[in-house]
Amino acid sequence: TTFGTYGTLELELSDRILTLTVNRPAALNALSQEVVAELWKAFTAVQDSCTHDAGWPVRGVVVTGAGGKAFVAGADIREMTSMSADEAAGYSRSMQAVTLLIEKLPVPVVAVVDGFALGGGCELALACDFIYATEAAQFGQPEVNLGLVPGFGGSVRLPQRVGLGAARELIYTGRRIDAAEAYRLGLANRVLPTRDDALAAARTTLGEVAAKAPVAVGLAKQAITGATGRSTAEGLEGEADAFREAFTTEDMREGTGAFLEKRSPSFAGK
Ligand code: HXC
Repeated sequence: TTFGTYGTLELELSDRILTLTVNRPAALNALSQEVVAELWKAFTAVQDSCTHDAGWPVRGVVVTGAGGKAFVAGADIREMTSMSADEAAGYSRSMQAVTLLIEKLPVPVVAVVDGFALGGGCELALACDFIYATEAAQFGQPEVNLGLVPGFGGSVRLPQRVGLGAARELIYTGRRIDAAEAYRLGLANRVLPTRDDALAAARTTLGEVAAKAPVAVGLAKQAITGATGRSTAEGLEGEADAFREAFTTEDMREGTGAFLEKRSPSFAGK
């Protein structure tokens, strides 16, 4: 299976875990318009493969950055300076669309953050299901230093992740926080010593998920994402819909049957 070839991204599929590396190290992997367009294309290709007919070749995605210094240092500041306000709004919208695509992807996406995850980089990480950081990780929303505000989802997802008070403090000050503070705030799920450790840990977790019924995992993600920012009653509606849909799958028959027969399930992905 191929998910396309890219100038600014590296894609590597191994054991059904796709590692997507933003590869523009000379600009600390800043999200140029080209990167945004390629992220859209790559995540769309992954999305299209997440069906029984296509064989569910990807059961989890790791998003990371190349070069050893940064996850992603944000929107591309150089490119932004030559944009009109309308063009900048379009740039904001196009990366927001990528973040929504990541949230809608029916497989989990883990951000492995080693080094800087600033501005749009922090926002890309926030669109992922969860974050594994290294001890060298640095997070922040430094837009106010540039006379800007978050534009790739940070105003919405940072408060959801860390609470309103902590998000306001980070966004108003532009302050950078280290991995230990990110962990304390619940921004990072885990902190590992090195990039290799964090990649291995993310792949282990996604490997664990890969053994489960993929339709069920996708519906669980859909229910959680769908409930975010909604009332309890609306969230419960979405959960009941997801539960109903899971109940119609062959995998549900297999999983419950295997339990009662005291054997391991073998899921077909439908
Ligand atoms: C374009 C960037 C960049 C960025 C770094 N570079 N960040 N280019 N956009 N966001 C480039 C630098 O210009 C430099 O290029 C090279 O990468 C290495 O960066 P240095 O600054 O030399 O490295 P260092 O001194 O180690 O400092 C690292 C850093 C700093 C602290 C991460 O680069 C930095 O503050 N970057 C900007 C972070 C930021 O403000 N991000 C938010 C952007 S606004 P040269 O050619 O000189 O070698 C945003 C809004 C999102 O994300 C919404 C938009 C709609």
